[in-house]
Amino acid sequence: MELIFLFPLFISLAVVSGWSDNKVRTFKKDFLFGAASSAYQVEGAWDADGKGESIWDRYFHSNPELVADNSDVDTAADSYHNYERDVEMLRELGVDYYRFSIAWTRILPTGRSHNINEKGVQYYNNLIDELLKYNIQPMVTLYHFDLPQKLQDLGGWTNPLIVGWFEDYARVVFEKFADRVKYWVTVNQPSSCVMAYGEGVIAPGVVFNGVGEYLCIKNMLLAHAAAYRLYEKEYKKKYKGSVGIALELNWSDPINNKTANVEATDRYKQFTLDLYLHPIWSKQGDFPSLVKEVIAKKSREQGFKRSRLPVLSSEEKQMLKGSADFIGINHYTTNLVKPSKAQYIVPSFNDDVGVELSYRKDWMQAKSPWLRSAPYGLYKLCLYINKHYDYPKVFITEHGWSTSQALWDNSRVENLRGYLKALLFAIEDGTEVIGYTAWSLMDNVEWNAGVSERFGLYEVDFDSKEKTRTARLSALVYKRIIEKRIVESDWTPTNLDINISNKEGRVEL
Ligand code: BGC
Repeated sequence: MELIFLFPLFISLAVVSGWSDNKVRTFKKDFLFGAASSAYQVEGAWDADGKGESIWDRYFHSNPELVADNSDVDTAADSYHNYERDVEMLRELGVDYYRFSIAWTRILPTGRSHNINEKGVQYYNNLIDELLKYNIQPMVTLYHFDLPQKLQDLGGWTNPLIVGWFEDYARVVFEKFADRVKYWVTVNQPSSCVMAYGEGVIAPGVVFNGVGEYLCIKNMLLAHAAAYRLYEKEYKKKYKGSVGIALELNWSDPINNKTANVEATDRYKQFTLDLYLHPIWSKQGDFPSLVKEVIAKKSREQGFKRSRLPVLSSEEKQMLKGSADFIGINHYTTNLVKPSKAQYIVPSFNDDVGVELSYRKDWMQAKSPWLRSAPYGLYKLCLYINKHYDYPKVFITEHGWSTSQALWDNSRVENLRGYLKALLFAIEDGTEVIGYTAWSLMDNVEWNAGVSERFGLYEVDFDSKEKTRTARLSALVYKRIIEKRIVESDWTPTNLDINISNKEGRVEL
C-alpha cells in the first residue's frame, strides 16, 4: 500500500534529480546569485551608538532561559564591527548581491520617525558603500522580525496604526539609501505572526491564539503594501528599483492519496501559501475563499460574533493587489500532510488548519528538527505558483540548511546541489526565477536555538573575540557553481582555501 501511494513522489524525485536524462542544465549569464543574513541574527551591538531596544532584545533579556544554548545573542557574529570582513566573504564567494536587513531600532530607536539615529544610518551607509565598491548589489530587507519594543508597547503588529508607522520608517530608509539600493524586500515572512502573536513562542511572545496572528498578518501585509506604494509613487521613477516581499513558502504533499489527506493538504496550502500570495497576485485579490470560510465557520461555532480573520476593505484589497515587483520565496523543506487527530488549542491557527505534518523517513535530516531535504518540493512549489498566479518575477530570497559546527559540511553541499538542480528544472518548465539567495552567509543567532543550529556557508567561531569566520566546504562549492553556472555532482576541493573571486564580466542588477 505504502509503495503505491508514494509512487508519484518517486516520479517527481526522479525528474528533479536529473536521473531521467543526461542534459546539462545551466544558469544563464544574467541569473543572479546572492547570500543572506538579517540584522538581529548577525549584527550584535544591540545597544551600541544609540540603537533602541527591539522585541528580541526584550524577549531574551527578560527570559534568558529561552536561548536554547545560552549563547551570547547580544553580540551574535558582531557584524556591526565586522562588516568589512563580511563583504570580503561575499567577494570570495563571487556573489552578485547581499541580502541583509536594517534594524529598525538602529535607525529609529523608538520606532517613530521623529528621532533619527545618524550613527545607525552611518553603519548601513558604510556597509552599502563597501558592497558597491566591489560591484556587489545590496538587497535590503526593511523588516526581519525585530520590531522596536516601543511600538510593541502599543500593540505592535496587532495595532492597525503600524501600517503608518512602517510607512514612515520606510520613507526614512528610502530617503537615506534608495540612491544606491535597487532591490528592496519590505517584510520577511508574515507567517511568523503565528508564532509571534498566536502561539507566543517567539518575540514578542504574545499568546493570543486564533486572533493575534490574523491581526498581525493583515497589518503586516498592509504595511508591506504601504511601503510598496510609497516607493512606487515617490522613488521608482528616479531610482528604478524593485520592491518585493519575502514569503515563507514550503511545499506539502498528501501522505497518501486518500481523499481526506488530499483535502487536508489543499487546506494546508491555502493557509500557508495562498493566504499570502492570493491578496497580492490573484485576479480577485483578498484572502483565499477557503481560508475565509473555514475561519468564519469555526468562529461562529466557537461563539464569536464575527470571524477571527479580519476583513480586508475594498480599498485595502486594491492597495494589496499587484503590490510587488517580485515574489521573494523563502523555501526550506517539504511536509507530508494528513488531517489532524491531535487536539490543538481552540481557537488557534493550528486548529483552524487542522492538519498533522510528517516527513518521509529517507529525507535527509538537518540539525534543525523541522528541516528535511526534499528538493522536488521546490520544483513543485514553483510550478504551483506558475499555475495559480500572475506574478512578475521570482527571487529565491532564502534557502538553506543547518548543521552542527563543522567545516566539511557535506550534507549542506548535498542539499544545495539538490535544490539548485530542482530550480534549474523549474526554470526550464517556465518559472521566471531571476535569482537565488543562500541562507546564510555565515552562522548566526538562529532565534530561540541560539547558535546551536549552524546555517552558514561560513562558520563563525563565537568563542573568539573577533568572531572569526572560516569558509566551509559549501562556500567553495557555491563559489564554483556561481563561476561555472552548472551544478556538478562530484566536484570537491582538496582543501578549504578560498580566494577573492574574479567578478569581471558579471552582470549588474
Ligand atoms: C528566516 C530566518 C531563519 C531561517 C532558518 C527563515 O525562515 O527568515 O531568519 O534563520 O528561516 O530557520
